[in-house]
Amino acid sequence: MITFHQNKQIVHITNQTISYVMEVVDGTYLAHRYFGKAIRAYRGAGAPIYFKRSYNTEHDLSIPHVSFDDFPFEYPVRGNGDFRIPALAVTQESGITHICPAFKRWSCQQGKPEITGLPAVFAEKKEEAETLEIVCEDAIAGVRIYLYYTIFDEMGIILRHQKIENIGTQTVKLQNVQSASLELPAQQYDFLSLYGSHTKEANCERFSVHHGVQRIESVRGSSSPQHHPFVALLSPKTDETSGDVYAMHLVYSGNFLAQAEVDQFGSVRVQVGLHPDTFGWQLKPGETFETPEAVLNYSAEGLNGMSHNFHWLYHNHLLPRQFARKPRPVLLNSWEAMYYDVSLDKIEHQAELAKQIGIELFVLDDGWFRSGNTSHTSMGDWECNENKIPGGIEKAAEIIHDKGMQFGLWFEPEAITADTKLYQQHPDWVLHIPGYEPVKGRHEYLLDLSQQEVRDYLVLMLDRYIQKGSIDYIKWDMNRPLTDVNSMALECSRKDEISHRYVLGLYDVLSRITGKHPHVLIEGCSSGGARFDPGMLYYVAQNWTSDNTDAYERTQIQSGYSMLYPPISMGAHVSITPNHQTGRVISLDTRYQIARLFNLGYELDLDLCTPKERETIAAQIAEHKSMRKWLQDGRFYRHTVPNDNYVMWSIVSRNKEECLVVILQKLHNLLRSHGQFRLLGLNPQCDYRDAERGEVYGGDELMRLGLAIPLIKEDFHAFTFHFMKAEDT
Ligand code: GLA
Repeated sequence: MITFHQNKQIVHITNQTISYVMEVVDGTYLAHRYFGKAIRAYRGAGAPIYFKRSYNTEHDLSIPHVSFDDFPFEYPVRGNGDFRIPALAVTQESGITHICPAFKRWSCQQGKPEITGLPAVFAEKKEEAETLEIVCEDAIAGVRIYLYYTIFDEMGIILRHQKIENIGTQTVKLQNVQSASLELPAQQYDFLSLYGSHTKEANCERFSVHHGVQRIESVRGSSSPQHHPFVALLSPKTDETSGDVYAMHLVYSGNFLAQAEVDQFGSVRVQVGLHPDTFGWQLKPGETFETPEAVLNYSAEGLNGMSHNFHWLYHNHLLPRQFARKPRPVLLNSWEAMYYDVSLDKIEHQAELAKQIGIELFVLDDGWFRSGNTSHTSMGDWECNENKIPGGIEKAAEIIHDKGMQFGLWFEPEAITADTKLYQQHPDWVLHIPGYEPVKGRHEYLLDLSQQEVRDYLVLMLDRYIQKGSIDYIKWDMNRPLTDVNSMALECSRKDEISHRYVLGLYDVLSRITGKHPHVLIEGCSSGGARFDPGMLYYVAQNWTSDNTDAYERTQIQSGYSMLYPPISMGAHVSITPNHQTGRVISLDTRYQIARLFNLGYELDLDLCTPKERETIAAQIAEHKSMRKWLQDGRFYRHTVPNDNYVMWSIVSRNKEECLVVILQKLHNLLRSHGQFRLLGLNPQCDYRDAERGEVYGGDELMRLGLAIPLIKEDFHAFTFHFMKAEDT
C-alpha cells in the first residue's frame, strides 16, 4: 500500500511486514525517513532535528540549521554541499559537474514496470505489487530523474531503480548512477558481504562498520566470485534467527560497487549500483538511461529471515516462470568423467549406465568441438569434432534421446580462440585495443557483445542447435574476466560505455534465445559461481555453484549462496572420491546428503563405481524423485549449531508437514559436547514422525530441545532426519 500524508509531503510505502517512508522538505528536497518493520499509519514520529554545525555548509530551509552534509538525502548528488558518497554524478556539455535536482511530483500505479533491456523482478498480476514513481528535475543541467519503488503485498522487499532523462538541449554525460541509496539511523552495524575466488566462492565476511567508506566491488566485467553484488548491514547481535538486517542486492551481471559510509555524525549511508570507475553514458537530448534494479531487503528475524525474503522473491518473481515450479531433472554431467577427452563410445556407454540408475538429463560438457584434449583451441566456430563424435551432435543426441533422457550441451558462447575461422574472418568482433596484444584468459579472448552483428551470430548459432531438436538444455559457461574492454564499433566519446554495453548485449542474446525457445533449460556457469547473480537468474533457471565438488567444501559454498538464492537455483553434484579438486575421501552417502537439498546432479565416471555403488546411486535418485516436489518448493534454513564442527541445514515443506534435516559432522571429535540441534519452522502444534526411526515428537519439542545425534566414529559423516506429520495430528 502506498499512502501520502501531510498535504502530500510524506509518502508511506507499506505491507504487513515493512514500511518505507520519505518526505519532501520545503517542496524541493527528497529526504529519507524510515525503512524497517511495518508501521500501521505514519503520523510523523521521529522527524529529524538539526543542530547548528559549525564549519559546515548552510542552506536556507524552513527547518533551522540544516546542513546538506547532515541531511538524509534519498538520492544524494555531488556538488550541493553533501560530501558523502553520491548516488548521481553528471557532467554537463560545458564541463560543469554540478547538479541539484528538485522534487517535482510523485504518483503510484498497480503492478511493476519493466526495465528496458535489463532483467528485473516481475509481478505476474498487477494486484500483486504497487509502484511509486517520484520525479525530480534540474532544469539547468537538463536532467530529469525518475525514482521507482515497488512493494509486493507480502515480504520485506522494496525494489528500486532509476531512469534518467535528458530534458535539455545539450548532451550530458552520466558518470555515476547508483541503483539505490539508503540512509540508516546512527548506530553500530556489522557489514556483511560474500567474498571468494574460483573454487572457494561465497564466503561470509562480517566486520564492524567504522567511520569512512567501506566497499566491495567488481571491475572484472562480471559480477565475479571475488565479491558478490550484495551488502547487508546488521545490528551487531544479529544471528540466523534474530536481529535487524538491511540488505541490498543488485540484479546485474557486470561491474558493481556496494558501499557503506559512516559519516562524522555517525549516520550511515549504503549504496549499490554500477561501478562508476568503469562506467560512463552519453545522454543526448530526449534520451533516457535506466539503471539495473536493486533489491532492498529488511528482516527483523536475522539472516534466515533475510534469506527467506530473497528466496521467496527470486523463486516467485525472477526465475523463468516455466521452470520455477517444475521439478528439475536429475542430471549426469560428463566433465569430471571425461574432461576434454570425449568420444561417442564413452557417451554411449555412460548414457546406458545413466539410464539404468534413473538419470533424466545427460549433459555433454566441454570437449565436443575441440581439435585436441585441451582448452587451447576451437572456441567460437561451434562445430562438432567428428573424429571424437562421428555423426556429430545429432548422433549423440539421438543416442541419449533413444534411451529416454534429455540431452544437454556445453557452450561458452562469449569466448573465442585465435585458431578459429570466426577469428580469422572477424578480428574486429573481439574485445581488443588496436596496437596492443589482447590479454588471454584460459587461452581465449572475448567477443564484443556490444556489437549487434556479434549478437546475431550467437543467436543464429545457438538457434541452429536448438532448431534441429538436438538439445533440451544448455550449460552457458563464461570462463574469464573482461580485459581490453574496447569495441571497434563504438565512437571515441562512448568508450566508457562498453563494460555496461557488454552486459546489455549478453542480456539481449539471452532474452532472444529464451524468448524463442522457452522450453530449453539453461544452466548458468562461469568457472563455477563467477557470474552467479540475480541478473543471470532472470534468464537461466539454475546456476553451477562452484567447480569445487568436494562435499565438505560445498557446505561452506552452498551455505554462503543460500544467504541469497533458493536451493533450486544451485547446481550440486555428487562427484567421485577421492575428490578431483581436494583429494578428500568422503562417503557416497555424505556426498549425496550435501547435494540433495539443492539441485541434485551427478558428475562422475559411472564406470568407476562398483555395481553396488551404482545400485546405491539408483536408490538415491529414486528417493530424491519422490521428495523433490516439496523439497524444491520448501523453506530452507541454516541452523545455529553447538560448535563449528557441524553444519546443519533443513528444508520444511510449505504446508509444514514434512521436514528434511542434514547435519554434517566435519571431524569425529573425541571431546563431544552436548549441544542441541534445534529444528526451525515446524508447526509447534503438530506431531512429527521420524520416517526412518519411527519415533514421534511434537513440533514444539523438536524446535526447543532439538535432535540428539548418535556417536559415529567417522569424519565427514552426514546425519539425516526425515520428519513427516504424524497421521493423528
Ligand atoms: C568451467 C566450468 C566447468 C566445466 C569447464 C569446462 O570451468 O565451471 O564446470 O564446464 O569449464 O571447460
